[in-house]
Amino acid sequence: MTFVTDRPLSTSVGVSHPLEPLTPDEISAAVAIARAQPSLGDRVRFATVTLKEPPKATVLSFQPGDTIEREAFIILLDNATAKTYEAVVSLSTGEVKSWVHIPGVQPPIMLDEFVECEAAVKASPEFLAAIAKRGITNPDLVMVDPWSAGHYGIADEEGTRLSRALCWVRSSPTDHGYARPIEGVIPVVDLNKMEVIRVEDYGVVPLPPKDGNYTPEYVKNYRTDIKPLEIVQPEGPSFEVKDHEIRWQKWKIRVGFTPREGLVLYDVTYQDGEHERPIFYRASLAEMTVPYGDPAPHHYRKNAFDVGEYGIGSLANSLKLGCDCLGEIYYFDGFITNSKGEVVQIENAICLHEEDFGILWKHVDWRTEQAEVRRSRRLVVSFIATVGNYEYGFYWYFYQDGTIQYEVKLTGVVSTAAVMPGEIPKYGTLIAPQLNAPIHQHIFNVRMDMQVDGGNNSVYEVDIVPEVDEHNPYGNAFYAKSTLLPTEQTAQRLIDPMQGRYWKIVNSSKTNAMGYPTAYKLMPGENTASMARPDASVSQRASYMSKHLWVTPYHEDENYPAGDYPNQHPGGEGLTQWTQRDRPVADTDIVVWYTFAHSHSPRAEDWPIMPVATIGFMLKPLNFFDENPANDVPPSPAKNACCH
Ligand code: CO
Repeated sequence: MTFVTDRPLSTSVGVSHPLEPLTPDEISAAVAIARAQPSLGDRVRFATVTLKEPPKATVLSFQPGDTIEREAFIILLDNATAKTYEAVVSLSTGEVKSWVHIPGVQPPIMLDEFVECEAAVKASPEFLAAIAKRGITNPDLVMVDPWSAGHYGIADEEGTRLSRALCWVRSSPTDHGYARPIEGVIPVVDLNKMEVIRVEDYGVVPLPPKDGNYTPEYVKNYRTDIKPLEIVQPEGPSFEVKDHEIRWQKWKIRVGFTPREGLVLYDVTYQDGEHERPIFYRASLAEMTVPYGDPAPHHYRKNAFDVGEYGIGSLANSLKLGCDCLGEIYYFDGFITNSKGEVVQIENAICLHEEDFGILWKHVDWRTEQAEVRRSRRLVVSFIATVGNYEYGFYWYFYQDGTIQYEVKLTGVVSTAAVMPGEIPKYGTLIAPQLNAPIHQHIFNVRMDMQVDGGNNSVYEVDIVPEVDEHNPYGNAFYAKSTLLPTEQTAQRLIDPMQGRYWKIVNSSKTNAMGYPTAYKLMPGENTASMARPDASVSQRASYMSKHLWVTPYHEDENYPAGDYPNQHPGGEGLTQWTQRDRPVADTDIVVWYTFAHSHSPRAEDWPIMPVATIGFMLKPLNFFDENPANDVPPSPAKNACCH
């Protein structure tokens, strides 16, 4: 099926690179092309309109001035027929290049559906009766969070686009609503019809008695001993930005933004003398899952896939609403659509800035009394998303010594439940009287399409191990034991902190001055196992959680570790499915997937608003250079005397 639009088209004019995100005009043009399809009903929602990334070979061979073919990838949901379509439209020709019905899937829950779902619940007489039983008479103060329904093999849920909403009630319009869960009431909403199909009621639990406010109108006794701390960059920042390409010291980084993943990094390179050396082609948060540990009948279905079920990019904060960075900031806007296909500008979605980061290196020669110290500076590329009660900040850091770090900052409000007076929850913590914060995990997976010094890489597991007795006469011997992970199945690995386990991504065709193959090492930070049993629904659906490391050969259709459509999916898709073929992953174009889990047993100190918890990992050059690449960082001006 093709259709040539007679609307003015946005072409390659003004777009400087094949990976530039779609412009607002391009998004509008893509929506217009799709809308002109005669088969499209008037109750269609646009779940995604994003750049269809050109083939890797096209991008890698791109030279400035080359013609750029622009295509958009669109996911549509027809509420009338409950059918999901994927379309690719050409912005260069106006053609629909493909239009495919994807049977049996549910696109992510869209932000418009959040709002409409809340209104539908509040209009339900059954729901109003359920809250009246709990003494709640003003539905305007009720908050309805449309949680995803998951998949539990329940016949009358099959094929219905569902939300199982969780509800809270404020005591006034600006009160912190998560202080008062409406325990045991779960409205189940058909999101295609946008009507409540049933209200589950597991019995009345009183509202917790105490407020939990944190905003200035409530917090009266601010501490008074904080003096100003200013970050001043009188000559401006040290980075340069052209469209979506960033240059900072020796780094070159291209950023993108998708409604599903939020911030995407492309084509990250480090300038080493004459050579611009690639490290990875593309990196993003590809999935995250938040499984809860409470088996109560109204709690066991709580788990959220904040990338695949909600689209973490579409939930990105506009950072003008409270700047989160100090110093000279550069912002990139994010452009997405609402479900009507209208362009939505997330102003200041991505933050770019520099930070002082303590000392980079230091040595005092005690004989000559020469002291040399260098300040470390890092480049920070980040965005923050609000997913219902929780906030997640996602930060990529680039350091002067070639290190790359990924860090998630978890903050916002813990998910809350009410318990009976005197009840001590086993699967949670009392964070206020009768207010339970159930235990849960935040499990992330970052997809890294590696190209360390070129397209063909291999992954080795490295353990620091004691020498065997035969070669260890004094008992002191130990060494770094390196094992090639040659295939997809052998490359499914877990962390082992007792052996200092890391994985190195190696280019076996390049060597440093000592003859070692050039490499980057992936160093785990905090990490734990997934706690859900393997046969649990969430383990089936997020089967990527079972391993910390996965390696696959690059395939353009393999982008999301829990599959393309995890919402209400029975599972078995994504990494576990692809890797059954056990394809070779040595000396080829590989993708490295790293899973990391934060187990969150809440504390009283996490209430009413949670201080940031961090989790992440590092990528460090490993015999990639011939020496410390930050040897050339100059001393800081002496005026920065630190002690007097
Ligand atoms: Co948490």
